[in-house]
Amino acid sequence: STVDQQRLKQDVARAALAYVPEDSIIGVGTGSTVDCFIDALADKKDHIRGAVSSSERSTQKLKALGIEVFDLNSVSELPIYVDGADEVNTHLAMIKGGGGALTREKIVAAVARKFICIADQSKLVAILGQFPLPIEVIPSARSYVARQLIAFGGEPRLRQGFTTDNGNVILDVHGLQIVDPYTLEQALNQIVGVVCNGLFAKRGADVLLLGTPNGVETKHP
Ligand code: A5P
Repeated sequence: STVDQQRLKQDVARAALAYVPEDSIIGVGTGSTVDCFIDALADKKDHIRGAVSSSERSTQKLKALGIEVFDLNSVSELPIYVDGADEVNTHLAMIKGGGGALTREKIVAAVARKFICIADQSKLVAILGQFPLPIEVIPSARSYVARQLIAFGGEPRLRQGFTTDNGNVILDVHGLQIVDPYTLEQALNQIVGVVCNGLFAKRGADVLLLGTPNGVETKHP
């Protein structure tokens, strides 16, 4: 990413601090934009109780800055979940999972009352699907699921040399034009062997903080 893009990521990361309630435990996602958010959060660390993290990478970074990390099962509610996206549309449906942690991300997002998406303007698209859609699949179902995905009009490719935290594989589906993310998300979940897909439409973002050269734009669905 360029120096300018890095600036936009820092801008949206700082803007997200306004959504962090006092004395709360918050959900924290993964990626280079979230790394900026965690850095910004360090200034506020005496005002929060801690965080639930969607990845080992973010957990390490949070702990290094002195922010306590809780297990999701020991937390009954999360007011917000702050995460990036690989693509986001104007309805605030997203493609996520470029880092391979989509299942954990979707679980934390499901618990959170509000999903705050932080992204630079390069992530905003009219139609999702240019970014290959990640799908986590049980290893023995890989070929079967791939054939089903071809029937959906996609071109699945096995992510080489990659195993998820849950011991599964990722199929990255190229060539999709996702005009109805909500319906496709449900349909993909019906394929036996699919653990999770990277479409976040049923639980899309509630707020998008979009970094532009003219400042941070706040968007709602
Ligand atoms: C991780 O699996 C993804 O869902 C991330 O949220 C996404 O890749 C955003 O990362 P960047 O902030 O580095 O673009």
